[in-house]
Amino acid sequence: MRKICVIGTGYVGLVSGAGLADFGNSVICTDIDQSKIDMLNRGEMPIYEPGLKELVDRNVATGRLSFSADIDAAVQNTEVIFIAVGTPMGENGEADLRAVEAVASTIAKNMNAYKIVCTKSTVPVGTGARLEKLILQQRNSEVDFDVVSNPEFLREGSAVKDFLHPDRVILGVSSKRAELILAEVYRPLYINDTPMVITNIPSSEMIKYASNAFLAVKISFINEVANLADKVGADVHTIAKAMGLDGRISPKFLHPGPGFGGSCFPKDTEALVHTGEVNGVDFQVVKAAIAANKAQRKVILGKALELLPDMTGKIIAILGLAFKANTDDVRDAPALDIIEGLESLGAVVRAYDPIASTNMKKYFLPELDTRNSVSETVEGADMVIILTEWNELRGLSLPDLKKRMNSANIVDARNILSVDQLKEFGFNYRNVGRSTI
Ligand code: UGA
Repeated sequence: MRKICVIGTGYVGLVSGAGLADFGNSVICTDIDQSKIDMLNRGEMPIYEPGLKELVDRNVATGRLSFSADIDAAVQNTEVIFIAVGTPMGENGEADLRAVEAVASTIAKNMNAYKIVCTKSTVPVGTGARLEKLILQQRNSEVDFDVVSNPEFLREGSAVKDFLHPDRVILGVSSKRAELILAEVYRPLYINDTPMVITNIPSSEMIKYASNAFLAVKISFINEVANLADKVGADVHTIAKAMGLDGRISPKFLHPGPGFGGSCFPKDTEALVHTGEVNGVDFQVVKAAIAANKAQRKVILGKALELLPDMTGKIIAILGLAFKANTDDVRDAPALDIIEGLESLGAVVRAYDPIASTNMKKYFLPELDTRNSVSETVEGADMVIILTEWNELRGLSLPDLKKRMNSANIVDARNILSVDQLKEFGFNYRNVGRSTI
């Protein structure tokens, strides 16, 4: 059991902190945002994430997990400090490291015994070395420390499961001492034979970007395959499934749709391209994936226009605002561009999401007309566009939808509805890569 401090209680920090406590460690989760800490101390979760409250409650009850806004004290009283603050996109696509560096300064000033400073935030290659230099310059006494890179691969919506049962754990270390302590921190995973990749810090930092960028490339690739399938009467799902049967390809992340969004792939692909540029490497494949992703949102808009060439005054019901299912996160969600596109064509947009409407209005589209149910949203609509693969939307009753709508037009941008049923109930429909089958 190790004494751990996690700085930053966003998706990564909070889930990691609670998960590390579940592994048997004693964890203090900290944040400069006192209101977030107050919420957590009241037992309320600042984000929607399935299973998170149970994980937090369970570990608070055992006394292994606590929350505090006193970062100085938390650093002083612990040995392994995880940095889990945001690294948003900077002006030229680079990762903005200001929050990470501010945290490193705080750690340096509170260095009272040996510490491991571990980056969990997604940070570009070279950050570990930069933090080491910064701490050496700013530490208040000559105590020893080690920097470790331990990127996190959890997905929003399945973050708890991903953290507790990861495919692999990556540790970028430069000392045996740090390696052995981290092995203890992750002991339950060692015991259940989770693959551990122990490497140097630059490799570890690159593994995270290379993984995210590769997945982004897969998505953009299958979206382009889907767009061609649409034109030639092929079915993208059959193509993806058959491709995935080749063990070298794997069937995962070959689901077509409106393009990737969220807080990771869009910023991490840009950051990798930027790091490449700084180092004289042209990431042509990743650049193409970014461009294809932007284009995919226009492809969805184009499908809507095929069904309703004149959008002026037409009521369009958007079902799904979150960038994917099981999250209330709307950052870089396809809905943002698609709603903007529809409105610029003169359409009247209404929207429904089981949980993400509040965030969409709060952070991006305050004027958006959001409704409380699917039926209210589709009443009198000239078209429905499905943008998030919520289970609730998979079970839509098509006869009921048709009865409520003014005209039976559907763009299913997530391919969650049955093509046979859409045909049977007389919908004019488009989906991604199987419209013509
Ligand atoms: C992603 C990675 O999957 C995580 O491993 C990583 O830890 C995380 O970024 C991060 O860097 O923090 P996340 O953004 O939560 O996780 O969500 P994903 O499930 O990866 O989906 C990303 C986007 O790709 C979503 O917009 C989703 O709809 C889209 N997607 C995903 C597809 O369009 N098709 C697919 O087959 C899979």
